[in-house]
Amino acid sequence: MSWNIKEVGFDQHKIIHRGNQFLIGHLKLGVRGTLDEMRKEALVAVHLPLVYDQVGDGWREPVNAFNPLFTQVFVNGVEVGVMHQNPYEHEQNLSLKDAVMSRKSAFHIDGNDIVIESKRFVSDLEERAILVKYSVTASQPCKIEIKTGIDGDIWDIHGPHIEKVLFSEADDVLVASGVSHEKKNQITVLKSIDCDFKPVQETINKEDKGIYKLIEIDASAHQTYTVDQYIHIGVDEKDDVLKDRLHHLAYKGFDQHLKRHQQSWLKKWDIADVKIEGDEKADLSLRYSIYHLLILAPSRYDHASIPARGISGQTYKGAIFWDTEIFMLPFYLNHDLESAKKIIEYRIQGLKGALEKAKSYGFKGAFYAWESQDDGHDACTDYNVTDVFTKRLIRTYFKDKQVHISGDVVYAMMMYMKRTGDYEILHQGGLNVILEVARFYLDYGHYAISKDRFEVWDVMGPDEYHERVHNNAFTNQLVKMVFETVLNVENYFIHQKSPIFEELVRKMDFEDELKTIKEIISKVYIKEVNDDLIIEQFDGYFKLKDITKKDLFEKKLHPNEYLGGQGLAGDTKIIKQADVIAMLYLFKEKYSKQIMKANWDYYEPRTEHGSSLSASMYALTACLTDNPDYAYPLFMKSATVDLTGESKHYAGDVYIGGTHPAASGGAYMTVVHGFAGCTFSDQVSCIPHLPKSITSIRFKAHHLGKTYEICVKKDTFDIKELTK
Ligand code: BGC
Repeated sequence: MSWNIKEVGFDQHKIIHRGNQFLIGHLKLGVRGTLDEMRKEALVAVHLPLVYDQVGDGWREPVNAFNPLFTQVFVNGVEVGVMHQNPYEHEQNLSLKDAVMSRKSAFHIDGNDIVIESKRFVSDLEERAILVKYSVTASQPCKIEIKTGIDGDIWDIHGPHIEKVLFSEADDVLVASGVSHEKKNQITVLKSIDCDFKPVQETINKEDKGIYKLIEIDASAHQTYTVDQYIHIGVDEKDDVLKDRLHHLAYKGFDQHLKRHQQSWLKKWDIADVKIEGDEKADLSLRYSIYHLLILAPSRYDHASIPARGISGQTYKGAIFWDTEIFMLPFYLNHDLESAKKIIEYRIQGLKGALEKAKSYGFKGAFYAWESQDDGHDACTDYNVTDVFTKRLIRTYFKDKQVHISGDVVYAMMMYMKRTGDYEILHQGGLNVILEVARFYLDYGHYAISKDRFEVWDVMGPDEYHERVHNNAFTNQLVKMVFETVLNVENYFIHQKSPIFEELVRKMDFEDELKTIKEIISKVYIKEVNDDLIIEQFDGYFKLKDITKKDLFEKKLHPNEYLGGQGLAGDTKIIKQADVIAMLYLFKEKYSKQIMKANWDYYEPRTEHGSSLSASMYALTACLTDNPDYAYPLFMKSATVDLTGESKHYAGDVYIGGTHPAASGGAYMTVVHGFAGCTFSDQVSCIPHLPKSITSIRFKAHHLGKTYEICVKKDTFDIKELTK
């Protein structure tokens, strides 16, 4: 069983990818896996997720702090590092067990062998603290100079976000501070440096864009010189509080903090690890996916959920999409109920923003943000893609027409209640969300008298290539589910003999809408299968041009050209990602295996998998149709997306790189709910669908207040309830 992600050898072309691959941190601080000597050109980011800022007309995005990791080394005046020489030996490592990144690089410099090593972690027990151990060893006596400090030259996509920047030093603490442009958040980075040797000289260098300490060493041969670095980052925190925290960090020292940090990580893995036997690659890739979900856990934070690119940077505006509810929540429901609750609460708190969004389009009820930022504000722009040819903005309809987002929120809430039995959430604003979403769908859709059915026009399903379509099968199912949920919760409260439902209906003036829901619920238009058992993705889809993916790609004039809308895919049957298939997975109890199989065979060859969300939905449905060996490569695609770096980095001209936590969540779902076929209802059960290479899967999971240990083999499974 492996716990390490290791890359041997240095490749200049992979710097950006490694930044994602070796990411460490938590939901308040993301530290990209770049190396000590790198600067903003390498997309170094000490990222502050969920601290949003907008400059001028640029996109509102999370802020990157100053870079306190920057450390350079000079040997007899020559700068040594991967940006200047090719190392003859280089290794970068991420220990998944304790979220520690390390590197070792060795260089030949004028007959002298220089070895640079460093180790860093973002403390799991502090608000925002990074600890670094950095060392240099030379094979010959020489003069070494280490320059370490805070680099104020920040990588931003739509910045600069931090203004009134000041660099200072007092009591041996380096400080960089400034305020964010829009909300005037005070951003402060503090760093103290501790050498395990006596330097010949130490000086402080204040530069235009940074502050550094220069440490001069008369180095002896084969002696290792180590510099510990303690870093604290504050957002709207007083300087003296931060200084106290920094002193506490430095006082206890790197090793003691590392021990406590490791214990904290041990606890996480105890409940969350999934062991795959028989296939080491699958085992490690899944563990890596789980690592990403663990660093993103929102349990400790108020009003926090998980951005689509996690904590890896400013891409996708640091916003929260349906990815979290549909692809990540299942992991937390099994392993971390506090985080699961936070994900639900985030949307309850975002209701105000959802009401405002609906109103801005002239609709009643709650239309959730497609790209949700702190207050439920929709960061998605009307022109979200830039044309690669003309450099003009392309009108996209993600924000206006992906109305399924509101249904996704309700779907997630239902999953949460079913799995935890925590119906209190309804009293805490959950019921308002359900009724307001139902109100929105009632207003958005319409009853078509001639067809005697409730239809939902002018939407975009998960397949974003086909814009403004009518009766998208995925969306309509969610609409129906929301109406059913209203009636189910009404029954729940009647059963509880509680007046809450009635009272809220009265307060919201929802009586007529409730009556309408009861009248039309059986008339919501759910697409029937055709003679070949296929469900049409939306009205008119079957009439589109039936070309192959190969044909479509051959027509491309630019590798990054945008395929949706007016682009090449718009009038064809080629879809961006699982749509009907995603619907079949979410509503699996309503469809037979034959229907699933027929639709899989029909849609998969027509799916570009242009979103990292797509593969896992196909993998999950392949398992449901007893085809785990079809699912396997799709599972590996999801689980390795941030290991290989093989994903789309551009949509049109817009950079969309970063990590892909929804793919991590999808990989997790495929193993636990697909291969192991684990289902949680009144009872926990499994229907094993192990692919050839996997002999067993072992994991723990919470369900309805209990914790189980589950082991699934080819034809058998064992479920043990764990006593507390
Ligand atoms: C996908 C969306 C997804 C978003 C963020 C887009 O490319 O089409 O479904 O929510 O990326 O991951």
